[in-house]
Amino acid sequence: MPTAFVAPRTTSTSIFKDDIFKGKVLFCTGGGSGICRGMTEAMMRHGANATIVGRKIDRLTQAAKELSEATGQKCLPIQGDVRQPRALQEAAAKTVEAFGRIDFVICGAAGNFLVPISGLSENAFRTVIEIDTLGTYNTIKATLPHVRANKGAYIHVSAMLHYKGTPYQAHVSAAKAGVDALSAVVAVEEGPHGVRSNVIAPGAIANTEGMDRLGGKGPDAPEGLYPLGRMGEISDVANATVFLFSDAASYITGQVLPVDGASEHLRGLV
Ligand code: HXC
Repeated sequence: MPTAFVAPRTTSTSIFKDDIFKGKVLFCTGGGSGICRGMTEAMMRHGANATIVGRKIDRLTQAAKELSEATGQKCLPIQGDVRQPRALQEAAAKTVEAFGRIDFVICGAAGNFLVPISGLSENAFRTVIEIDTLGTYNTIKATLPHVRANKGAYIHVSAMLHYKGTPYQAHVSAAKAGVDALSAVVAVEEGPHGVRSNVIAPGAIANTEGMDRLGGKGPDAPEGLYPLGRMGEISDVANATVFLFSDAASYITGQVLPVDGASEHLRGLV
Protein backbone atom coordinates (compact mmCIF):
# COMPACT_ATOMS: atom_id res chain seq x y z
CA MET A 1 0.00 0.00 0.00
CA PRO A 2 2.20 2.85 -1.20
CA THR A 3 1.52 6.23 0.27
CA ALA A 4 2.89 9.68 -0.32
CA PHE A 5 1.67 10.85 3.06
CA VAL A 6 3.90 10.84 6.11
CA ALA A 7 2.27 11.52 9.48
CA PRO A 8 3.61 14.64 11.19
CA ARG A 9 6.02 14.23 14.06
CA THR A 10 4.65 16.28 16.92
CA THR A 11 5.71 16.90 20.49
CA SER A 12 3.17 17.05 23.29
CA THR A 13 4.43 20.50 24.27
CA SER A 14 3.28 21.86 20.94
CA ILE A 15 -0.27 20.77 21.77
CA PHE A 16 -0.78 20.63 25.54
CA LYS A 17 -0.06 23.39 28.06
CA ASP A 18 3.34 23.21 29.72
CA ASP A 19 2.09 23.07 33.30
CA ILE A 20 -0.84 20.64 33.19
CA PHE A 21 0.92 18.21 35.55
CA LYS A 22 2.49 20.84 37.82
CA GLY A 23 2.65 19.55 41.40
CA LYS A 24 1.89 15.98 40.27
CA VAL A 25 4.13 12.95 40.62
CA LEU A 26 4.68 10.08 38.21
CA PHE A 27 5.93 6.62 39.21
CA CYS A 28 7.22 4.67 36.21
CA THR A 29 8.64 1.16 36.05
CA GLY A 30 10.98 0.58 33.15
CA GLY A 31 11.55 4.32 32.88
CA GLY A 32 15.31 4.10 32.42
CA SER A 33 15.15 3.53 28.69
CA GLY A 34 13.08 3.29 25.55
CA ILE A 35 9.37 3.93 25.39
CA CYS A 36 8.89 4.38 29.14
CA ARG A 37 11.70 6.89 29.35
CA GLY A 38 10.01 8.88 26.58
CA MET A 39 6.68 8.69 28.40
CA THR A 40 8.36 9.95 31.57
CA GLU A 41 10.10 12.78 29.77
CA ALA A 42 6.80 13.98 28.30
CA MET A 43 5.15 13.98 31.72
CA MET A 44 8.07 15.93 33.16
CA ARG A 45 7.96 18.42 30.32
CA HIS A 46 4.42 19.21 31.46
CA GLY A 47 5.42 19.80 35.07
CA ALA A 48 5.48 16.41 36.84
CA ASN A 49 8.28 15.15 39.04
CA ALA A 50 9.01 11.48 38.47
CA THR A 51 10.45 8.31 39.93
CA ILE A 52 11.88 5.78 37.52
CA VAL A 53 12.30 2.18 38.67
CA GLY A 54 14.40 -0.50 37.04
CA ARG A 55 17.02 -3.14 37.58
CA LYS A 56 20.06 -1.27 36.28
CA ILE A 57 20.93 1.59 38.61
CA ASP A 58 23.69 3.01 36.41
CA ARG A 59 21.32 3.40 33.48
CA LEU A 60 18.57 4.80 35.72
CA THR A 61 20.88 7.33 37.34
CA GLN A 62 22.11 8.58 33.99
CA ALA A 63 18.56 8.73 32.61
CA ALA A 64 17.31 10.63 35.67
CA LYS A 65 20.10 13.18 35.32
CA GLU A 66 19.37 13.72 31.63
CA LEU A 67 15.61 13.90 32.19
CA SER A 68 16.01 16.50 34.93
CA GLU A 69 18.37 18.57 32.83
CA ALA A 70 16.05 18.41 29.83
CA THR A 71 12.87 19.29 31.68
CA GLY A 72 13.79 21.25 34.81
CA GLN A 73 11.82 18.78 36.93
CA LYS A 74 13.05 16.33 39.54
CA CYS A 75 13.62 12.68 38.69
CA LEU A 76 14.41 10.04 41.30
CA PRO A 77 16.10 6.82 40.10
CA ILE A 78 15.32 3.76 42.22
CA GLN A 79 16.86 0.33 41.69
CA GLY A 80 14.28 -2.44 41.96
CA ASP A 81 13.04 -5.59 40.27
CA VAL A 82 9.29 -5.50 39.62
CA ARG A 83 9.14 -9.21 40.44
CA GLN A 84 9.86 -8.32 44.08
CA PRO A 85 6.82 -6.82 45.85
CA ARG A 86 8.96 -5.37 48.62
CA ALA A 87 11.13 -3.51 46.09
CA LEU A 88 8.04 -1.80 44.69
CA GLN A 89 6.71 -0.98 48.15
CA GLU A 90 10.03 0.57 49.10
CA ALA A 91 10.16 2.51 45.83
CA ALA A 92 6.66 3.86 46.43
CA ALA A 93 7.58 4.86 49.99
CA LYS A 94 10.77 6.61 48.81
CA THR A 95 8.77 8.46 46.16
CA VAL A 96 6.29 9.74 48.71
CA GLU A 97 9.17 10.67 51.02
CA ALA A 98 10.87 12.64 48.24
CA PHE A 99 7.89 14.16 46.45
CA GLY A 100 5.00 13.84 48.91
CA ARG A 101 2.59 11.93 46.68
CA ILE A 102 2.00 9.64 43.68
CA ASP A 103 -0.63 10.67 41.14
CA PHE A 104 0.23 8.72 38.01
CA VAL A 105 1.72 5.29 37.46
CA ILE A 106 3.15 3.77 34.31
CA CYS A 107 3.52 -0.01 34.53
CA GLY A 108 6.09 -0.42 31.79
CA ALA A 109 8.80 -2.87 32.83
CA ALA A 110 8.81 -5.76 30.36
CA GLY A 111 10.93 -8.61 29.07
CA ASN A 112 11.02 -10.02 25.60
CA PHE A 113 12.88 -12.34 23.25
CA LEU A 114 11.93 -14.33 20.19
CA VAL A 115 11.47 -18.06 20.68
CA PRO A 116 8.98 -20.62 19.31
CA ILE A 117 6.78 -22.27 21.92
CA SER A 118 8.42 -25.60 21.10
CA GLY A 119 11.71 -24.19 22.36
CA LEU A 120 10.35 -22.01 25.16
CA SER A 121 11.46 -23.35 28.55
CA GLU A 122 9.13 -23.25 31.51
CA ASN A 123 11.52 -20.85 33.20
CA ALA A 124 11.66 -18.55 30.19
CA PHE A 125 7.85 -18.45 30.03
CA ARG A 126 7.60 -17.86 33.76
CA THR A 127 10.26 -15.14 33.64
CA VAL A 128 8.32 -12.98 31.20
CA ILE A 129 5.01 -13.61 32.97
CA GLU A 130 6.67 -12.58 36.22
CA ILE A 131 8.22 -9.39 34.81
CA ASP A 132 5.21 -8.24 32.78
CA THR A 133 2.12 -9.54 34.56
CA LEU A 134 3.21 -10.16 38.14
CA GLY A 135 5.32 -7.00 37.92
CA THR A 136 2.24 -5.02 36.93
CA TYR A 137 0.27 -6.53 39.80
CA ASN A 138 3.08 -5.72 42.24
CA THR A 139 3.28 -2.15 40.97
CA ILE A 140 -0.47 -1.65 41.29
CA LYS A 141 -0.50 -3.06 44.81
CA ALA A 142 2.40 -0.87 45.94
CA THR A 143 1.01 2.36 44.51
CA LEU A 144 -2.78 2.06 44.72
CA PRO A 145 -3.26 3.66 48.17
CA HIS A 146 -1.37 6.74 46.96
CA VAL A 147 -3.07 6.89 43.57
CA ARG A 148 -6.44 6.48 45.23
CA ALA A 149 -5.68 9.29 47.68
CA ASN A 150 -5.05 11.63 44.75
CA LYS A 151 -7.72 10.30 42.37
CA GLY A 152 -4.92 9.52 39.96
CA ALA A 153 -4.49 7.19 37.02
CA TYR A 154 -2.61 4.21 35.62
CA ILE A 155 -1.24 3.54 32.18
CA HIS A 156 -0.13 0.00 31.46
CA VAL A 157 2.18 -0.54 28.52
CA SER A 158 0.97 -3.56 26.59
CA ALA A 159 1.49 -4.53 22.95
CA MET A 160 -0.44 -5.34 19.78
CA LEU A 161 0.88 -8.85 19.40
CA HIS A 162 -1.59 -10.79 21.56
CA TYR A 163 -4.76 -9.68 19.80
CA LYS A 164 -3.88 -12.19 17.10
CA GLY A 165 -1.45 -15.07 17.04
CA THR A 166 2.10 -13.75 16.81
CA PRO A 167 4.78 -16.36 16.19
CA TYR A 168 7.60 -16.69 18.75
CA GLN A 169 5.71 -14.56 21.24
CA ALA A 170 3.73 -17.08 23.34
CA HIS A 171 5.25 -15.83 26.59
CA VAL A 172 4.79 -12.11 25.85
CA SER A 173 1.32 -12.62 24.39
CA ALA A 174 0.12 -14.45 27.50
CA ALA A 175 1.78 -11.86 29.73
CA LYS A 176 0.33 -8.83 27.96
CA ALA A 177 -3.17 -10.34 27.85
CA GLY A 178 -2.89 -10.51 31.63
CA VAL A 179 -1.78 -6.89 31.78
CA ASP A 180 -4.81 -5.81 29.73
CA ALA A 181 -7.08 -7.77 32.08
CA LEU A 182 -5.54 -6.25 35.21
CA SER A 183 -6.05 -2.76 33.83
CA ALA A 184 -9.72 -3.40 33.09
CA VAL A 185 -10.32 -4.70 36.61
CA VAL A 186 -8.58 -1.70 38.18
CA ALA A 187 -10.78 0.55 36.04
CA VAL A 188 -14.04 -0.96 37.26
CA GLU A 189 -13.03 -1.56 40.87
CA GLU A 190 -11.25 1.73 41.42
CA GLY A 191 -13.45 3.97 39.27
CA PRO A 192 -15.70 4.69 42.26
CA HIS A 193 -12.58 5.94 44.08
CA GLY A 194 -11.76 8.31 41.22
CA VAL A 195 -8.95 6.19 39.78
CA ARG A 196 -8.66 5.62 36.03
CA SER A 197 -6.73 2.82 34.35
CA ASN A 198 -5.93 2.45 30.67
CA VAL A 199 -3.63 0.48 28.42
CA ILE A 200 -1.42 1.87 25.70
CA ALA A 201 -0.61 -0.80 23.13
CA PRO A 202 2.33 0.36 21.03
CA GLY A 203 2.87 -1.12 17.60
CA ALA A 204 6.28 -1.17 16.01
CA ILE A 205 8.18 1.72 17.58
CA ALA A 206 11.53 2.70 16.08
CA ASN A 207 14.73 2.89 18.11
CA THR A 208 13.59 0.77 21.04
CA GLU A 209 15.14 -2.26 22.70
CA GLY A 210 11.96 -4.19 22.01
CA MET A 211 12.22 -3.64 18.27
CA ASP A 212 15.94 -4.38 18.29
CA ARG A 213 15.33 -7.65 20.06
CA LEU A 214 12.52 -8.56 17.71
CA GLY A 215 14.68 -7.83 14.70
CA GLY A 216 12.57 -4.83 13.82
CA LYS A 217 13.59 -2.39 11.18
CA GLY A 218 14.26 1.29 11.66
CA PRO A 219 12.21 4.16 10.32
CA ASP A 220 13.15 3.18 6.77
CA ALA A 221 11.21 -0.09 6.89
CA PRO A 222 9.65 -1.19 3.60
CA GLU A 223 7.10 1.13 2.11
CA GLY A 224 3.58 -0.16 2.59
CA LEU A 225 3.98 -1.57 6.08
CA TYR A 226 2.79 1.67 7.60
CA PRO A 227 -0.49 3.29 6.50
CA LEU A 228 0.64 6.67 7.88
CA GLY A 229 3.87 6.56 5.93
CA ARG A 230 6.26 5.89 8.78
CA MET A 231 6.98 3.64 11.70
CA GLY A 232 5.84 4.67 15.18
CA GLU A 233 8.18 6.74 17.31
CA ILE A 234 8.61 7.06 21.03
CA SER A 235 7.12 10.56 20.88
CA ASP A 236 3.89 9.08 19.49
CA VAL A 237 3.50 6.95 22.62
CA ALA A 238 4.54 9.88 24.82
CA ASN A 239 1.84 12.10 23.30
CA ALA A 240 -0.80 9.45 23.98
CA THR A 241 0.46 9.23 27.55
CA VAL A 242 0.05 12.96 28.15
CA PHE A 243 -3.46 12.81 26.73
CA LEU A 244 -4.55 9.80 28.80
CA PHE A 245 -3.18 11.21 32.06
CA SER A 246 -4.64 14.66 31.36
CA ASP A 247 -8.10 15.85 32.32
CA ALA A 248 -8.97 15.72 28.62
CA ALA A 249 -9.30 11.96 29.20
CA SER A 250 -11.24 12.21 32.45
CA TYR A 251 -14.07 9.97 31.12
CA ILE A 252 -11.74 7.47 29.47
CA THR A 253 -10.96 4.42 31.58
CA GLY A 254 -10.76 0.67 31.10
CA GLN A 255 -9.66 1.15 27.50
CA VAL A 256 -6.86 -0.09 25.30
CA LEU A 257 -5.41 2.62 23.08
CA PRO A 258 -3.35 1.19 20.23
CA VAL A 259 -0.58 3.52 19.07
CA ASP A 260 0.30 1.65 15.93
CA GLY A 261 -0.79 3.83 13.02
CA ALA A 262 -3.26 1.09 11.97
CA SER A 263 -0.37 -1.18 11.05
CA GLU A 264 -2.05 -4.06 12.84
CA HIS A 265 -5.00 -3.88 10.47
CA LEU A 266 -2.58 -4.46 7.61
CA ARG A 267 -1.07 -7.57 9.10
CA GLY A 268 -1.58 -10.48 6.77
CA LEU A 269 -1.94 -8.24 3.75
CA VAL A 270 1.75 -7.40 3.43
C1 HXC B 1 15.06 -18.18 24.75
C2 HXC B 1 15.60 -17.11 26.71
C3 HXC B 1 16.12 -16.00 26.00
C4 HXC B 1 16.10 -16.08 24.58
C5 HXC B 1 16.31 -15.61 28.13
N1 HXC B 1 15.75 -16.82 28.00
N2 HXC B 1 16.56 -15.09 26.91
N3 HXC B 1 15.07 -18.18 26.09
N4 HXC B 1 15.55 -17.17 23.98
N5 HXC B 1 16.59 -15.10 23.83
C6 HXC B 1 15.41 -17.73 29.07
C7 HXC B 1 16.65 -18.19 29.81
O1 HXC B 1 17.32 -19.21 29.10
C8 HXC B 1 16.04 -18.68 31.10
O2 HXC B 1 15.42 -19.94 30.97
C9 HXC B 1 14.92 -17.69 31.34
O3 HXC B 1 14.61 -17.11 30.07
C10 HXC B 1 15.32 -16.57 32.26
O4 HXC B 1 16.46 -15.94 31.71
P1 HXC B 1 17.40 -15.02 32.64
O5 HXC B 1 18.40 -14.39 31.76
O6 HXC B 1 17.87 -15.78 33.83
O7 HXC B 1 16.34 -13.98 33.20
P2 HXC B 1 16.55 -12.49 33.61
O8 HXC B 1 17.98 -12.19 33.96
O9 HXC B 1 15.54 -12.23 34.64
O10 HXC B 1 16.24 -11.69 32.27
C11 HXC B 1 14.96 -11.76 31.76
C12 HXC B 1 14.89 -11.25 30.33
C13 HXC B 1 15.27 -9.80 30.36
C14 HXC B 1 13.45 -11.43 29.96
C15 HXC B 1 15.76 -12.03 29.38
O11 HXC B 1 16.65 -9.60 30.52
C16 HXC B 1 14.85 -9.09 29.11
O12 HXC B 1 14.14 -9.49 28.27
N6 HXC B 1 15.23 -7.92 28.96
C17 HXC B 1 14.79 -7.19 27.74
C18 HXC B 1 14.04 -6.01 28.06
C19 HXC B 1 13.26 -5.60 26.83
O13 HXC B 1 13.52 -5.98 25.71
N7 HXC B 1 12.27 -4.77 27.04
C20 HXC B 1 11.43 -4.32 25.98
C21 HXC B 1 10.31 -5.27 25.88
S1 HXC B 1 9.34 -4.86 24.46
P3 HXC B 1 16.16 -21.32 31.36
O14 HXC B 1 15.18 -22.40 31.02
O15 HXC B 1 17.41 -21.39 30.51
O16 HXC B 1 16.47 -21.24 32.82
C22 HXC B 1 7.91 -5.67 24.64
C23 HXC B 1 6.91 -5.44 23.56
C24 HXC B 1 7.42 -5.77 22.26
O17 HXC B 1 7.70 -6.35 25.53
C25 HXC B 1 6.43 -5.44 21.16
C26 HXC B 1 7.15 -5.04 19.90
C27 HXC B 1 6.27 -5.00 18.67
